[in-house]
Amino acid sequence: MNKVEQAAVAHSADAGNVEDALDAGNYRQAVIDSESATAVAMQNTLLTPRFYTTDFDALDAIDVSPVREEWDRLIARMKSDPNKGHFKKNADWEQIDWDGMDPKLRAEFTDFLISSCTAEFSGCVLYKEMKRRGKNEDITTLFQLMARDEARHAGFINDALREAGIAVNLTFLTEKKKYTFFQPKFIFYATYLSEKIGYARYITIFRHLQKNPQHRFHPIFKWFEEWCNDEFGHGEAFALLMKTDPRLTRGINALWIKFFLTAVYSTMFVRDHQRPAFHQALGIDPDWFAQSVFTKTSEISRQVFPLTLDIDHPRWKKNLKALQRANVDLAEARKNGRLIKRLFASARAGLAFVALLTIPSIRNKVPERTRLEPVY
Ligand SMILES: [Fe+2]
Ligand SMILES: [Fe+2]
Repeated sequence: MNKVEQAAVAHSADAGNVEDALDAGNYRQAVIDSESATAVAMQNTLLTPRFYTTDFDALDAIDVSPVREEWDRLIARMKSDPNKGHFKKNADWEQIDWDGMDPKLRAEFTDFLISSCTAEFSGCVLYKEMKRRGKNEDITTLFQLMARDEARHAGFINDALREAGIAVNLTFLTEKKKYTFFQPKFIFYATYLSEKIGYARYITIFRHLQKNPQHRFHPIFKWFEEWCNDEFGHGEAFALLMKTDPRLTRGINALWIKFFLTAVYSTMFVRDHQRPAFHQALGIDPDWFAQSVFTKTSEISRQVFPLTLDIDHPRWKKNLKALQRANVDLAEARKNGRLIKRLFASARAGLAFVALLTIPSIRNKVPERTRLEPVY
């Protein structure tokens, strides 16, 4: 691309690849960041989105021939790029009075946007790096396409944040945020789940607001349908990657899958309950929301996981609540520098997590073909 063409890509939504998306005007503007937003995005706690790195050579060595037919179909659909140009403001975007917003809601909603933006960008960085390091054309093509989508998503959230006078400095994050190393199989479990749970979360909010438009307090929710379809497709790709090697979902790895399911679900539960004003503004009961998202994600994940969690077990909700309360107390004790209270709360959180993890799971027979459509 020459200079003139480069200048033509004014918005990440219109970019055809990840490099152009990151070069686009709305990304460059994000460099003029607000320190506080970037500081929030830099946090590495159990509950904040992380950046990942992996064994890129092992990933590059994957042979997709066992799933060739489904693979080619998925890649063709991603290449056709139905959402090109979608992730930017248009006539449907109403101006929001950020200054007039209830301060609690404003704080929680901002936190939601920053953490979503960080999560999108974390996917972008990982996928882009895989594309850069790989030689296997199947793999690099997929990761290039997914990085493109995530760059658009993150860019769009930053557009929304900028209206509130804040933006996350994504260049700074790339360079300075700590990267956690995961073996490829753990990247598969974690990323597959985060894509599918992302789909389930966004579609649940979108459908709820279709029925209750009076609760749509910000225009970004109107974009969630196409958005979650992107995430659904990314999840499909990871399902196929896992299908290339049956060992990834057997034996000891089934236990790892159970661990990741429990960790991802309970993290979501705890994090969402930290935003009561946000959920109240949406007219969403976080308990209902969690169960609805878990049900969808469990149903979808039967395409590739050999088990699902028993989310109707009497110990499930009880211990999610216990974990959440322990987390509130832990944050409180941390703030006040109370060491004993802190240790006690940590122990309670650990016990609750073990109680969740030891609920017997439900066995699942994985179908021959993985492919699913977003039907919710
Ligand atoms: Fe995304
Ligand atoms: Fe995604």
